[in-house]
Amino acid sequence: MFGKLINILRENPKKIVFPEGTDNRILEASSRLLASNFLTPVLIGNEKEVYDAAANSGFNINGITVIDPENYDRLDEMVELFCELRKSKGVTPDEARQMLKKSNYFGTMLVKMGEADALLGGATYSTADTVRPALQLIKTKPGKSIVSSCFILVRERATGNNEVIAMADCAININPNEDEIAEIAIEAINCAKTFGIDPKVAFLSYSTLGSGKGDTVEKMRNACRKAQAKAPDIPMEGEIQFDAAVAPRVARSKCPESDVGGHANTFIFPDINAGNIGYKIAQRFGGFDAYGPILLGLNAPINDLSRGCNAAEVYSMAIVTAALA
Ligand SMILES: CC(C)(COP(=O)(O)OP(=O)(O)OC[C@H]1O[C@@H](n2cnc3c(N)ncnc32)[C@H](O)[C@@H]1OP(=O)(O)O)[C@@H](O)C(=O)NCCC(=O)NCCS
Repeated sequence: MFGKLINILRENPKKIVFPEGTDNRILEASSRLLASNFLTPVLIGNEKEVYDAAANSGFNINGITVIDPENYDRLDEMVELFCELRKSKGVTPDEARQMLKKSNYFGTMLVKMGEADALLGGATYSTADTVRPALQLIKTKPGKSIVSSCFILVRERATGNNEVIAMADCAININPNEDEIAEIAIEAINCAKTFGIDPKVAFLSYSTLGSGKGDTVEKMRNACRKAQAKAPDIPMEGEIQFDAAVAPRVARSKCPESDVGGHANTFIFPDINAGNIGYKIAQRFGGFDAYGPILLGLNAPINDLSRGCNAAEVYSMAIVTAALA
């Protein structure tokens, strides 16, 4: 999977900005990226502090671009654009300057101003603090009403042919309605295709095709119907239980007519509780490596790291993020 993404980047190298420029994991991943010829890291922070942190940890970042919010030559232009983007909230230049001292806002504006193609943050910031500047400044793509997210989960097979599945939305929308779930599914399908998945989409529930009752059952059934209308060629089923979605034997008894039952590889959850718990069960008990959350529906590729991430995950997510640019 990564070979393909690296080839995309080799053909069209990108710049990625890391707001947490002094973090050890960011520095380790950046030194690896710097040695590559497909992705240029840009670090935010005080130049001396960044180089000292790298030297203390033994990472070579010689020649890397470091941008210091306290000493940035395009700051006035950035403040003006920030106020323009937030004019509906009446943000003043002084307030903008204060916010731009925070590297999450500053980094997001670097992407907005075209100084970088993508951003990867969240090694120290929470998901909300990484995502909020993107929601406020980068905003949703034309024609989309929400930003959502998808995890790509990969498990090695002994045959060498890895198992790759997609799960959404496990990280952003807390309790999406049926229209939002339909939109999440369409975005997740496109994301799944980027990672080589031929999507078979399950709208998950505690009920399979009417076996159970309740508002969330109807929500998933209606969301499936709405998404199917938007993408008639993609196999979808819903509402469907997880066992019927993945186990052919169960599917034969619960939904024998379904093309998706027993073979689903793209899973749409009814809310963030189910999604977040679900992907972590796959990761911790199922032996899948989890890449994400990959933000969907945003006007530029900005992604969030887990605060528990390691340098290898930063490196992988940087490639995923930049390849989506
Ligand atoms: C994404 C999230 C951070 C947004 O929360 P928030 O910043 O408090 O939300 P607000 O309602 O104040 O919205 C802030 C801005 O983002 C926009 N926004 C919020 N959610 C959005 C979404 N899903 N899509 C697009 N825009 C969104 C709002 O319209 C608002 O824009 P405005 O300031 O221009 O009016 C929130 O939904 C959240 O906390 N989700 C769960 C994150 C999490 O903990 N995940 C689990 C760990 S991975």
